Amino acid sequence: MSAAILDGKAIAQRVTEEVRAAVAVHAAAGHPPPGLAVVLVGENPASQVYVRMKRKTTETVGMRSFAYDLPATASETELLALIDRLNADPAVNAILVQLPLPKQIGPERVIERIDPKKDVDGFHPYNVGRLVLKMPVLRPCTPWGCMRLLQETGEDLVGKHAVVIGQSNIVGRPMALELLMARCTVTICHSATRDLPGLVRQADIVVAGIGKPKFVPGAWIKPGAIVIDVGINRLPDGKLAGDVDFESAREVAGWITPVPGGVGPMTIATLLGNTLRAAQWQLE
Ligand code: GUN
Repeated sequence: MSAAILDGKAIAQRVTEEVRAAVAVHAAAGHPPPGLAVVLVGENPASQVYVRMKRKTTETVGMRSFAYDLPATASETELLALIDRLNADPAVNAILVQLPLPKQIGPERVIERIDPKKDVDGFHPYNVGRLVLKMPVLRPCTPWGCMRLLQETGEDLVGKHAVVIGQSNIVGRPMALELLMARCTVTICHSATRDLPGLVRQADIVVAGIGKPKFVPGAWIKPGAIVIDVGINRLPDGKLAGDVDFESAREVAGWITPVPGGVGPMTIATLLGNTLRAAQWQLE
C-alpha cells in the first residue's frame, strides 16, 4: 500500500483564496488593507528564500507588505528601535522577525518587544500563554498549518496518539499544544528521549521537526499513520529533503506530506490568515 499524499501546495492555495476573500470583506467594511512587516537581519540563505516568499504572497491577497532588511552586524538596540516604530505604526498590523537572528541579538528580548496584538508568529509569551490555556488568537504559523493539513485528511483526530519529534519554540512545543487542543494523546520526543523508534511505532500521527534529513525511516512508521514532515533540509547535491525518509515512509503511512510542497506552503498561507486576524483583533 502506498500513502495518500497530503498536497500542501494545493491546500495552501485554497487557504490563500479564503484569506483573499476575507481581506476583500474586510476592505468592503471600510478598513485599510492589513499590513505585514517582515524583518530580516543578516544574509542566511534559507531565511532569504522564506522571507522573499512571505513578502511576495502578502501582496497577492490584497495586503500591504513592509520589508526591512538589516545587516548581519545590526545591534539588538537597532532592532528593538525598529520594532518600537512598527508597534506604533497604524499601517502595520503584523510584525514578523525572521529567525534565527545573528548571535549578538537575543531572540527572547526581540519577541517580547513586539506588541502581542501584532505578533503574527504567535511567539510572544502572551500568545503562547493563550495557546496553553486553550484560548489562542495568534497561533504559530507552522503548527497551525499542520493542523489544517490534518483536518484535510478527513480523519477524526480525537483520541489519536500523536508523536511530535522536536521540542522547538517554533514547531515542536506549539504543535504539541495544538494536537492536545484537538484532543489527541500527545508525546513530545527530543534528543534525550529513550527508544524513539519504539515511541514513533505507536504513533497514529507523526510530526517530525528535527532538522535532520531523512532522520525517520519508514521502518519506524505504524501502518496507516499520518506523517507530517516539517523538515526542510538542503542535501549536498542541492536537493531538498524532509526529516522523514519519504520513499520508505510512503510505503507504510496512510497519509504523508512531501518536501517540498507539504508543510512549507501551509506556513505562508497561515501567516496571511494570521495577518488578517491581527488586523481584526486590533479593531476589537
Ligand atoms: N524561522 C523558521 N520558521 C519561522 C517562523 O515560522 N517564523 C519566524 N519568525 N522565523 C522562522
